[in-house]
Amino acid sequence: MRILGVSAHYHDAAAALIVDGLPVAAVQEERLSRRKNDAAFPLAAIEWCLEQAGLEPGDLDAVVFYERPMLKFDRILTCALRAFPQSWRSFPHAMKNTLAEKLWVRGIISSQLGVPRQKVLFTEHHRSHAAAAFLTAPVRDAAILTADGVGEWATLTVGKGTRGPDRTAITLLREIRFPHSLGMLYSTFTSFLGFAVNEGEYKVMGLASYGQPTMTDAVRKIISPTPDGAFRLNLDYFDFHTTAKRSFSARFIDLFGPPRDPLDPIDLETADGRRYADCAASVQQVLEDILVETARSLHSETGLPDLCLGGGVALNGVANHRILRESGFERIFVPPAPGDAGCALGAALYADRIHFSNPDREFPDHPFWGPCVEEGVLARLAREDHLPVEELDEPGLIARVAQDLAQDRIVGWMEGALELGPRALGHRSILAGPHTIQMRDRLNRDIKHREEFRPFAPVVPVEAAERFFELPPGGSRLARFMSGVFPVRREWREKLAAITHVDGTARVQALERDMAPRLYALLEAYGQLSGIPILLNTSFNLAGEPIVNRTIEGYLTFRRSGIDVLVAGCTRVTKRVSGEGT
Ligand SMILES: [Fe+2]
Repeated sequence: MRILGVSAHYHDAAAALIVDGLPVAAVQEERLSRRKNDAAFPLAAIEWCLEQAGLEPGDLDAVVFYERPMLKFDRILTCALRAFPQSWRSFPHAMKNTLAEKLWVRGIISSQLGVPRQKVLFTEHHRSHAAAAFLTAPVRDAAILTADGVGEWATLTVGKGTRGPDRTAITLLREIRFPHSLGMLYSTFTSFLGFAVNEGEYKVMGLASYGQPTMTDAVRKIISPTPDGAFRLNLDYFDFHTTAKRSFSARFIDLFGPPRDPLDPIDLETADGRRYADCAASVQQVLEDILVETARSLHSETGLPDLCLGGGVALNGVANHRILRESGFERIFVPPAPGDAGCALGAALYADRIHFSNPDREFPDHPFWGPCVEEGVLARLAREDHLPVEELDEPGLIARVAQDLAQDRIVGWMEGALELGPRALGHRSILAGPHTIQMRDRLNRDIKHREEFRPFAPVVPVEAAERFFELPPGGSRLARFMSGVFPVRREWREKLAAITHVDGTARVQALERDMAPRLYALLEAYGQLSGIPILLNTSFNLAGEPIVNRTIEGYLTFRRSGIDVLVAGCTRVTKRVSGEGT
């Protein structure tokens, strides 16, 4: 059976193709259109997925959209009516967006792809998240927790899943509904702190480490527990449910002070700078407390040892670590794309296993479902520009690049198929030595152009991870796709200054050899040269751009940034002629 999953129209559109129960291709639209967080209907992604499998749209058995537009419309309409008359300005805006595209998704898919309307199916948004988390994890039975800003109505669900030869089921036990939302709470602070919503949440998490949670009482005024173990937002402090213009209200400002202007730098030497950091630390702590509590009661309710986490909130690696340590679950599985892009894959898997009751298949345990690096392109491009090119065999390449890194060169690393999800997990990475503050600052200044409070992540062979990082039991699984933040062991912090955050932690990727053998070999070779088999691994993109996909994009990024060496497959290119080859 051939099933195409599609997510679009909110944030980060994507397409994923499942053939006979296994993924064949999946890619985010932004990686092809080159517009970051592209939410448009993912025609390019769909076209690429079909082409990859040699299929025409007519060959598809079903196209599954990742949420139910009518339910979403129902939510927007209901909230607008409840909030009338404050909502009268935002409502036409919401209507325009919703009616124009979301509501007519079946017609759009049917006409754009030329598939009959009856082949277009819908899943619920949080079922797509749940499927993306559970059906991609190597577990038979697990509890499931999903949390995001909002889908149709649900903003958080708890449930459980079971997989077996005869039956696959995902049972959602309870849900919390809009406007009560952990994602919206965090996004409101993201916007209050002057960052872009849906992108700047990482920055809030990074900034939190610089602050003290001095305002948790204030945060608990605006989100409070309910007797049934859920939570509710005190809507007096928010405006996101009434207007698209601003998510926090005047009372929110009374409580937390004036918001940060996005153009003002954060200076931790000033009272305002410290207040921003304390706000971030406080909302982070409350978010963690609520997630831990929710997971703990789900653990006692289900008695299951494994938890699958989905939804954008599952990108919060600090919270994930606390859930692992404190909720009672032995292992936590977070997919590489827990956000809405991964819902394309989740929706397709949900339709395959549950709607069509197709037999269970073991999901390949890696994130590499996108376009592959093209052979020969880098060598051609570099030769046209008269840059030094080396085409090496694999051992030669590994040895050469390990030397580059040991000599403090910054390496653009392109290999195999592109990752699905926001993190570079070894196929589209910028790699560098992890040892010095100077390296971190150089990366921030010359390449990533980002705030200094945002940490860089390390990648380490899974077998060596515990030597350098304090991983609790189950931690290496959480670190497989860089989904947890863990303490760097004290004795290594100085030697790992480029990847150690101000609070002594790092968002570790613990790499298994089979997942990315060439990067694994590079880590080993670098370990032999430096004594530490760890590299700084950050996504291969400049600020504001999507992660590079094709070789040409990697090459252009290399040319206009401070990257010293570019590797695509077994081709190595440098900028300088003199001083190389020694
Ligand atoms: Fe979502």
